Amino acid sequence: MTTLLTTPVPTTAGDLTLRHGAARVLLNNWTGNSTVPSHGLYPHQWSWDSAFIAIGLRHLSVRRAQRELETLMGAQWSDGRVPHIVFNPAVPLDAYFPSPDFWRSSRDGARAGAPAGTETSGIVQPPVHALAAWLVHLADPEESRHRGFLSRMYGRLAAWHDYLTGSRNLGGGGLTAMVHPWEPGMDNSPCWDGPLKRVEPATPSSYRRADLDHGQPSERPTDLDYGRYVRLAADYRDRGYTDASGQHAFAVEDPCVNALLIVSEHALARIAKETGENPKLHQERAAHLTDVLVQRLWSPTDGMFLCRDLVGGELIAKRSLAGLIPLIVPGLPRHVVDALLDTAAGSSFRLGEVPMAPSYDLTGRAFDPSRYWRGPAWFNTNWLLQRGLRQYGQHSAAGRLRSAMLTAAGASGFAEYVDPFTAQARGTQSFSWTAALTLDLLADVGTAPSPGPTPGALA
Ligand code: SER
Repeated sequence: MTTLLTTPVPTTAGDLTLRHGAARVLLNNWTGNSTVPSHGLYPHQWSWDSAFIAIGLRHLSVRRAQRELETLMGAQWSDGRVPHIVFNPAVPLDAYFPSPDFWRSSRDGARAGAPAGTETSGIVQPPVHALAAWLVHLADPEESRHRGFLSRMYGRLAAWHDYLTGSRNLGGGGLTAMVHPWEPGMDNSPCWDGPLKRVEPATPSSYRRADLDHGQPSERPTDLDYGRYVRLAADYRDRGYTDASGQHAFAVEDPCVNALLIVSEHALARIAKETGENPKLHQERAAHLTDVLVQRLWSPTDGMFLCRDLVGGELIAKRSLAGLIPLIVPGLPRHVVDALLDTAAGSSFRLGEVPMAPSYDLTGRAFDPSRYWRGPAWFNTNWLLQRGLRQYGQHSAAGRLRSAMLTAAGASGFAEYVDPFTAQARGTQSFSWTAALTLDLLADVGTAPSPGPTPGALA
């Protein structure tokens, strides 16, 4: 492995220890072509995990970070979708559920464009990939150009975004829609409780949860949630993974997913420029999606973005951290930014008072400090939040959050998520994106304003 120290080396002994610990996690979790989120709980390649992992891996090995993204994009379907899991055939089927024999992508997804030689899931995850590719490029532009990294990525990334804004524009307003609670990545967010009530759970005896072999039941989604996840995934598979509005029992527009799509469109515009393609389409799409995001998901009374239930047709009156993540989007109206900052500091998220932002409203009835996406603080969403804060000039708040994340990452053994009040480890440990984003935060002192016209989230 070529080890390239592309960024400032941490200066304190504590930072150095943290860096070594984080690097060790990524080295141990590397499987040859990609990185598992964790060997026990998630023993394959996950889509948005890989994007966050590449963002950190670039500080250890630019080549390996490129490979991470290339492996994922190599499993892209011909309809443009990037599957949320790429299965490693060397891993036994019973190590993870739902396994390849559940998704049956190469057979049941063939008409939708699933690859013949690789087994994948048939659903997607948030589009962090163009942002990741751009950041990997910036870590060593010369090496990137030498390998034609962005030229090879551009077409695939553009097709991915076309899928999200085309087949997945299920609401007709322009935003991308997610058709399974695993797709926005926040599986058991209380935001999905209402929409999921319409879904008949699969019979418990028809499958076995492998996640409980590795995780505490009190920190994982419930059996009832799982029954519904299985039903939705099986129905989608049985329809050949086709997308059409009206077909899905669960369909939502999520502000975090769409904010990531917008930032990734900005990144794609830069990638296009770098590779001699036309950036205009991406610039225009980013601007259009920004307007539509505000039109469709902004709630002035909540002072934050909400999710929209496309089946019921209404905004979902639940406040998850997903609704603050649009701070990463450049060019939001000032009144929206001001309200988002107020909401972040208010009683629901208590930015600056609790170590890291909770995944869900601290005052909400469904809040649970330990259970997966119903309250614990996660490192990827906090990493996004601190970049958003920095983008809108909140440098001291971003700096405080960065320090708290570094402390929590080290003290928790690079936990998957932490209790938002105590920062005690929850979920699994030696979790790849926690380690990767630790490396990224260590490499970026995070207090300087972003230079020139580059939106903060892209530097
Ligand atoms: N997050 C899901 C799991 O827990 C899958 O994407 O397995």
